[in-house]
Order: sequence, then C-alpha cells, then structure tokens
Amino acid sequence: MAAIPPIDDTTKALDLTVRGFLFCLRRDGEDRLTLSAPHLEGYGAITVDWASADVQRRIAGGRKQLLTKAVGLHKKTDANVFDGTAGLGRDAFTLAALGARVTLAERNPVLLALLRDARRRALAHPALADAAGRMTIVEQDSTAGLDIAKGHDAIYLDPMYPDDGKRALPSKEMQVLRDLTGGDADADALLAAALQSGVARIAVKRPSKAPWLAAAKPSLSMEGTQARFDLYLR
Ligand SMILES: C[S@@+](CC[C@H](N)C(=O)[O-])C[C@H]1O[C@@H](n2cnc3c(N)ncnc32)[C@H](O)[C@@H]1O
Repeated sequence: MAAIPPIDDTTKALDLTVRGFLFCLRRDGEDRLTLSAPHLEGYGAITVDWASADVQRRIAGGRKQLLTKAVGLHKKTDANVFDGTAGLGRDAFTLAALGARVTLAERNPVLLALLRDARRRALAHPALADAAGRMTIVEQDSTAGLDIAKGHDAIYLDPMYPDDGKRALPSKEMQVLRDLTGGDADADALLAAALQSGVARIAVKRPSKAPWLAAAKPSLSMEGTQARFDLYLR
C-alpha cells in the first residue's frame, strides 16, 4: 500500500486513493473515526464500534460458542490470545469481553487507525473499558513471522477469503475491506508463520466448505452455521 499520512486522534478528514479507489476517513459528531468508500454506492460509512448490537450479541453467546472454544477460552478463562488478522476487532473484542487477554495484529494502516480509535473510545466507556484494557494493538504483518506470538496460549487467524466469483457476496463491511486491502491472497503464509511460532494452539476461521489454509489438514474442525474453525494443535 502506498505511504499514507499519519492518522491519529487529531485526524478530522483524510481522503486516500488506495488501489485506484477513493477512501474517505472522517471524524463524526460522536468523535468516531469513520471510513467510507464512495465507489461502493449505497454503502454507509464503517466505524469500529464494539458497543454495537452485533458485537454485544456475540459476547452474549458466552464461552461455549465456537470462537471461544476454538481458542481454548472455555478451558482457560483468561487465556492469552494472539489475533493475527485483527480487521475490525470484533472477534478480538468478543474474546476480551469474555476474559481473554488479546494481542491484535493488523497490517493495514487505515484499519489500524480505526482499531486504535475504537480502543480509545472503549477505554472511556464504562461497559467496554475492562475488555478494552485487556487488548493490545500492534502493527504487524503476520506473514513476516509470528515470533511476537510466543508465550500466547493460542493464535487466531481469520483472513479474508478471496473473491472467486462463486460465493455469495460478503458483508458490505468486508467488501470495503477487500477493496481497501486487496483481499488476503497470501493467507496460506499465515498458517506457516503460526506453525513456526511454537504456539500450541492455532485456530483458523474459514467459510464453510472453503479448503484448508495451505491445504494443511487440521487436527480437528468445528463446523458452525456460518463458518468453520480449523484447529492445529501441538
Ligand atoms: C476478515 S478480516 C478479520 C476480521 C476480524 N476477525 C473481525 O472480527 O473484525 C481480515 C483482516 O486481517 C488483516 N490481515 C490479513 N493478513 C494479514 C497479515 N498477514 N498480517 C496482519 N493482518 C492481516 C486484513 O488486513 C484484514 O483487516
């Protein structure tokens, strides 16, 4: 991605051209950083909001849902989880709200800015502050090596699935992310980096029926209604 100007708490408005598309970062009336992609007509602006009904519904799913089982949070309620593909931080926040300490790695600078903005706001929100305090956001390309994940109980990976034209369109937010990042065509390398890190538990979220990452057979898979979790256990 081309160099972009620094984005921080003082950023009010910034227009960026990425991969030939215009993206607009704006600060809204509630001091939230938002991202819109005018070429995707009719799509509203994205903001990372962990107080949203969607995230709160995920948290209400508790420690018996597949995501938490995949990272082992049902057995160790304060597990240290390394999320190597943070995105909008919804899975990471869900895990943190359910007791995990989570390191979130993201390589895209625009998404990093949205994540940092969300954490800043969450720390000031009485119902979100505890969980946000258990989250650490790092700028990192996880395919470059996951030595920094050493010492965590689990690595969690949720790369985007490339557009092969055969699947239903992803959510509007994921379409914006895909145009912004180009999709995660190098996702196979994520698993290699995770396996080399020595972390005992690696959980990969895949669309149902998608092939295994790097064609590597997992120790076990858990099928959900909307996704599958492949587990690589040492
Ligand atoms: C499908 S989204 C993750 C969604 C996330 N689980 C959530 O709950 O919001 C995938 C994200 O992983 C990031 N990503 C993909 N490969 C990465 C890598 N090698 N290193 C760091 N981030 C990566 C992408 O930039 C994108 O933001």
